[in-house]
Amino acid sequence: MKTTKLTVKNLSSSYSIIVGRNILNQISYQIKTLCPEAKKVALIVDKNVPKKFKIKLKKYLNKYKVYTFEYSVNEKFKSFINVNKLVEKCLANNFNRSDVLVSLGGGILGDYSAFAASIIKRGINFINIPTTLLAQVDSSIGGKTGVNSTLGKNLIGTFYQPRVVISDVEILKSLPKREVVCGYAEILKHSLILKSNFFNWLKNNSQQLLINKNLNLLKKAIIESCKIKIYFVNKDIYEKNVRMILNFGHTFAHAIETQNNYSKRINHGEAVIMGMMMATKLSYEKKLCSLDALNQLKEVYDFNNLKYDIKRFFKKSEYAKIIEYMTADKKNNDRKINLILLKKIGLTTQPNMYKISSIDLKKVFDKII
Ligand SMILES: NC(=O)c1ccc[n+]([C@@H]2O[C@H](COP(=O)([O-])OP(=O)(O)OC[C@H]3O[C@@H](n4cnc5c(N)ncnc54)[C@H](O)[C@@H]3O)[C@@H](O)[C@H]2O)c1
Repeated sequence: MKTTKLTVKNLSSSYSIIVGRNILNQISYQIKTLCPEAKKVALIVDKNVPKKFKIKLKKYLNKYKVYTFEYSVNEKFKSFINVNKLVEKCLANNFNRSDVLVSLGGGILGDYSAFAASIIKRGINFINIPTTLLAQVDSSIGGKTGVNSTLGKNLIGTFYQPRVVISDVEILKSLPKREVVCGYAEILKHSLILKSNFFNWLKNNSQQLLINKNLNLLKKAIIESCKIKIYFVNKDIYEKNVRMILNFGHTFAHAIETQNNYSKRINHGEAVIMGMMMATKLSYEKKLCSLDALNQLKEVYDFNNLKYDIKRFFKKSEYAKIIEYMTADKKNNDRKINLILLKKIGLTTQPNMYKISSIDLKKVFDKII
């Protein structure tokens, strides 16, 4: 498989995303060139990543003093308290700005490690090696770091760019189907907001991607997805405007995750699946998109058994709480809920163009779940 290099380049940063198969050996060259003064590496590892990749990575880092921190992760792990513990450990071992923090894990570990890297001595070098499909197509790109608060998802964090992202598709082989589905959801989101032909490709190849985990097709999906994310990030690194389009479905999703108390019953990708359907149904209710667009999305969901029925998870009495969490979303700049809705497959409304009050959302809630 050919290795592909994409570049994120904007006014505040420039770094590469390297996608290929069996490419962990890139790490030594990348540190040598990007962080020539580095002496220490903090290797932050997800326990579920197969051992052979950890052994390989340590071998490639043999020129450095490596401190390994291994964690079992879930959304509750992504907390300010846990970040503080890691920061203190790095400080106790005299990490300097010239040293490096490497994350080998999914989106949870990546968000957590990047946030820690951004605040240790006001920022040490950060390298991301995403190991889930979701992290390779989405969370490793764009420099959003952070942790959850009891008041809402990802409410604490910074913008901090990695020095390089190394996405090795070989690592995806051990990923459970449930997690592949979550990555597929974010890829689908990228197609929905910008490229209808990519949506059709994803529709036609869904079984190859989800069931067979065809690594060549997964690589193609990762590259396409990264390009779409890079397009938005480069236009608006600090999410003041167009980057908000990437949040399609996420205002619903984050509120669902918060109401779910971040329990494993619904993970982030599954909440995104529900959130995108709710946003599309609302788009149809508000006459922004056609019934055909809604049906096209339903068809992909039904064919691949993507579950979007939130009634299975929440009692009616909890809906008001979900709406309340939506009003606390970061994108809101007044008391209304600021949403990105769908106009057609491949096109959304612009940021700040569609806002709904919690009272109005309550009125249509039964129709969009
Ligand atoms: N920063 C951003 O821009 C951004 C964007 C999207 C999502 N996110 C965040 O990403 C998080 C979700 O990320 P995720 O879906 O990767 O979840 P995750 O990090 O929890 O990983 C999912 C599961 O897969 C396991 N795992 C990881 N790599 C594996 C491998 N190679 N083989 C087997 N198991 C493996 C993990 O241990 C975990 O159980 C959420 O917290 C979300 O808020 C951030």
